[in-house]
Amino acid sequence: MQYSTKVMEHFANPHNVGEIPDADGVGYVGNPVCGDIMQLYIKVQDGVITDAKFKTFGCGAAIATSSMVTDMVKGKTIDEALKISNRAVAEALDGLPPVKMHCSVLAEEALASAIDDYYKKRVLPSPVKLKVGHEHEAD
Ligand code: FES
Repeated sequence: MQYSTKVMEHFANPHNVGEIPDADGVGYVGNPVCGDIMQLYIKVQDGVITDAKFKTFGCGAAIATSSMVTDMVKGKTIDEALKISNRAVAEALDGLPPVKMHCSVLAEEALASAIDDYYKKRVLPSPVKLKVGHEHEAD
């Protein structure tokens, strides 16, 4: 299997690893295909994501996509962040092998889950349509 240089860089030296203790939104998703899990934290100010961090218990492609998606969302509005697809994350990494594309879905879904949590925490209707594999921790 051939990984791009960018994937290898983000896997070897992932950006934004960790937690945000006073996060405005926390996403928690499990990948139904492999059982790997990802937690993603966002900090939001005036509708803009000012910080993002993640903890991923998963494969190298999941770690690389978490690293990339947390880089990509910083400075974006919530609406812009919701438009980031797993394909966009994979493209930003110069592609993923086809059998690893499902790993990038985890990143998209963790972000969607964090944004959904952000709306719920503010008791606002959430525009996020969550798909499969969500394992929200008990609130
Ligand atoms: Fe589980 Fe990649 S194999 S996310």
